Amino acid sequence: MIKHTIKTSDSLGISTDCLVIGVYADGRLTPTATKVDRSSNGLIKSLLKRGDIAGKCGQTLMVPCGTNLRAKRLLLVGLGDQKKLNTDAFTDIVQSTAKALQDAGITTVVLALAEGNVEKRKLEERIRIIVETFSDFCYQFNKLKSNKSQLKKTFPETILFPLTNKQDATQVRKYINQGKAISQGVELTRDLANLPGNICTPSYLAAQARKLQRSHQLKVSILNEQQMRTLKMGSLLSVSRGSREPAKLIIMEYRGGPKNMAPIALVGKGLTFDAGGISLKPAGKMDEMKYDMCGGASVFGTLVAAAELKLPLNVIGIVPSSENLPDGAANKPGDIVTSMSGKTIEILNTDAEGRLILCDALTYARRYNPDVVIDIATLTGACVVALGDPASGLFSKHDKLASEILQAGEVSGDYAWRLPLWDQYQKQINSPFADIQNIGGSGGGAITAACFLARFTEDLNWAHLDVAGTAYKSGAQKGATGRPVRLLTQFLIERAKTKSQANS
Ligand code: BES
Ligand code: MN
Ligand code: ZN
Repeated sequence: MIKHTIKTSDSLGISTDCLVIGVYADGRLTPTATKVDRSSNGLIKSLLKRGDIAGKCGQTLMVPCGTNLRAKRLLLVGLGDQKKLNTDAFTDIVQSTAKALQDAGITTVVLALAEGNVEKRKLEERIRIIVETFSDFCYQFNKLKSNKSQLKKTFPETILFPLTNKQDATQVRKYINQGKAISQGVELTRDLANLPGNICTPSYLAAQARKLQRSHQLKVSILNEQQMRTLKMGSLLSVSRGSREPAKLIIMEYRGGPKNMAPIALVGKGLTFDAGGISLKPAGKMDEMKYDMCGGASVFGTLVAAAELKLPLNVIGIVPSSENLPDGAANKPGDIVTSMSGKTIEILNTDAEGRLILCDALTYARRYNPDVVIDIATLTGACVVALGDPASGLFSKHDKLASEILQAGEVSGDYAWRLPLWDQYQKQINSPFADIQNIGGSGGGAITAACFLARFTEDLNWAHLDVAGTAYKSGAQKGATGRPVRLLTQFLIERAKTKSQANS
């Protein structure tokens, strides 16, 4: 992990491999760039004048320094139009910066980029964005490569943030810690998600949860299939019947709040490999279905972030985990199973298995009398069609909860977008033979999947996040993103604020 420090002395007086400063497209300079310009006979202005850098968003220029500065190099970074710099553009700029530093093999850096004015973002928030973006950029998944030394890239090891006002230090330190806690959660989520199905099985996930008991003082309990049978989780167990790996129900409790405070329950789909079952998926890109446990992995990551931040809240993570494979004992189209709630389900497509394991986990969540229940799942291809990768799909009948989640998305840059959950869609999943069927018609697939879950969460303050389009990337950049850990952690941070206000 990168080391972050702050310094309130003059940034030009600090010895470093590289000093990073921002320049705008109209030739205007950030405060530190102005100072550097003055103490170097107008170097920055002349570089801009000569056209070596135009100040466009994300443009970078590495300049070796003479003896008049303590930094060995300067990295000029374009911040674009001063009045139009929004969060997303700023994040891109920080990414280009990280790339330029990596390409130059720089390990210690003084970063004055947070001086850039970013719409709606205070200084400490800009610094948190930098912390998170560098961590995201430096992430590598090398665990399963045999020759690790060959793969090693040089990333910045120490980042120093110069501050002009001493008064900012406390707040900035707090936000650096938030950024680090969130990054740690994101990293764990990406690591778990990137592991292949033959390694990351339900039992493996359960073992990783047990580790968090020690490292983060979570209370962890794992239910095996026998215990789930006793609880009558017939829907969840029907999915794992076609697999040789036993299903697990993983429960992780973070207790940071008062004993009597109702918890927030996070329920994450932990399907460690989804071949579709008897309704087998086509071969192309089927490997990506190792990512079908990303929702569950995000619950792990969010609990770690909450524990790192010592949030004064109680959070229960519940991860139903199974494989979905074809086999002589697997679910068959037309089978009818009885869920823990007592509701019967006609399984028309064995590939709509996420909702089958989630409904029992959601019913199980009731025993904690939760204040809020949020489930997170790579639930439908239809959600990817609807929203692509910028936003996770959000479904809820509770406007207040929905707006809190949307707001957490805005603040964290880990966006969600709300889709309807109207009862009009419910008729698509009425079954002639059972209480409910596990697929709807051809339209609104992300919504009918959410409608299915809604049948099990009546009278709960519940929301569903479909992260099929956001939790991982396909193609050349294939890999887990760690979403929506940032959204969920921000949601918890805000909750902790309002709860402590209510108590004071
Ligand atoms: N895990 C998939 C959803 C998915 C698809 C996630 C693509 C990420 C990318 C889920 O279990 C599934 O197979 N859903 C089906 C539902 C259908 C049979 C109603 C789907 O979306 O095709
Ligand atoms: Mn499926
Ligand atoms: Zn699935």
